Amino acid sequence: MSNTKNNLLFTVNACVFVLSVLLSLTAASAFVEELDDTFMEMKEPEEIWLIKFYAPRCSFCKQLDRVWHEIGSELKSLGAPVSVGKADATAHTGLAKEFKVQGYPAILMLKNDIKYNYQGPRTKDGIMDFASRVAGPLVRALTSPQLFQHAMSRHDVLFLYIGASSPLKGSYMAAAEELIVHTYFFSASRDVLPKAVSIPSLPAVAVFKDGTFLTYNEERDGELKSWINRERFLTYSKIDSYTLYAMGDTDKLVALALVDERRPSDKSLRYKTLLERVARDYKELYSREFYFGYMEENDYINGLVMGEVATPSLIVVNLSNDGYFLPPGAVETEHHLLDFLNTVLNGSSQCQGGNGLVQRLRRLSYEVRNTLTPLFSQTPLLGCLLLGFPLAIVALICYACCKAGRPAGQGQGEGEGEGEGEGRVAAPQRKTPADKKAD
Ligand SMILES: *[C@@H]1O[C@H](CO)[C@@H](O)[C@H](O)[C@H]1NC(C)=O
Repeated sequence: MSNTKNNLLFTVNACVFVLSVLLSLTAASAFVEELDDTFMEMKEPEEIWLIKFYAPRCSFCKQLDRVWHEIGSELKSLGAPVSVGKADATAHTGLAKEFKVQGYPAILMLKNDIKYNYQGPRTKDGIMDFASRVAGPLVRALTSPQLFQHAMSRHDVLFLYIGASSPLKGSYMAAAEELIVHTYFFSASRDVLPKAVSIPSLPAVAVFKDGTFLTYNEERDGELKSWINRERFLTYSKIDSYTLYAMGDTDKLVALALVDERRPSDKSLRYKTLLERVARDYKELYSREFYFGYMEENDYINGLVMGEVATPSLIVVNLSNDGYFLPPGAVETEHHLLDFLNTVLNGSSQCQGGNGLVQRLRRLSYEVRNTLTPLFSQTPLLGCLLLGFPLAIVALICYACCKAGRPAGQGQGEGEGEGEGEGRVAAPQRKTPADKKAD
């Protein structure tokens, strides 16, 4: 008796559960609109949109689905003036073209007919922060000392316009319009700042970071926008691959300690401390040319040097040309490090890598190899088929050429020397700085 009752109860419970899951799913998707090519004509001019462009088969896009629904429902429940949409870029190519979508998933915002491209990590927090930054005012006024202190406590790097309206403010607004994707912009009057902040003359633009501040000087620093773009990172920080990629725009070199987060050795700690100290104590000397930091993930750097970088190690990378510099010997002291940085600056250190044709070809072959290695280890048969077929054709062509009497002088063994040992199987895969963590 009670058994059937229990069963019945269980069935009812199960139904309720399934129903509620279905309901929550449909509710969530209602917060995200599916857009098509008619979108640009249909939307109202004052609407602000956060849009994900996806391709049905892209797995990174699928990983983002849940985050996207959460963002949709959260923005709605916060009452944010932002509509959330998604568009299949392969089906609605007109729209994708309009937004200059090149890869998937692409995340963009549309506000006042300006399109803002998000390049940060594909996390809910990262995207939400981007959405609220772009949706809000271009320049946020800090009208009291309390608001100034509050903003200071929330932002590691804070750009501030100080003074009344002026042509400089115009340039500041123009810079903000473009760079709001990366950072916040604030304004304040002089009396809002603490007395200790001495600004040489007003109006001024300053950046507060590294526990101090720096004022913009047109003569010395050039165009305001590019100065802001150069100064928008902390001088010393923990750097992930997104940040490193973004630092490429600043034209600064990046001095990095590559450390192993799982078992930080004494050497790791020494490298970190050395870089941090030099970044702080020699700011005047180096901060115009260098960013400093440490990285706990090596994929990006491995791709750059096309090999497995040993950790811990020190490296200086030039992101403008994919070049890099390695210290000539052990770096034990501050003196060694300063020597190394100076040789990089005065050109006496040999730049390796780079983006010349040969390097680009090597990089391509490195990436192909990295993609194929896990394929082989997971599904050897499929790997053989995929690789074997084109190889067989190439071999046939070569054979045909040789027979025709041409000396086909290409070396065979280019793929070796790159330890195809055990350790390599798990490491590659996530080369692109996309989707480190989707939740
Ligand atoms: C970094 O690369 C840029 C672009 O190629 C180049 O102009 C610059 O001199 C390089 N810097 C160093 C220190 O090699």
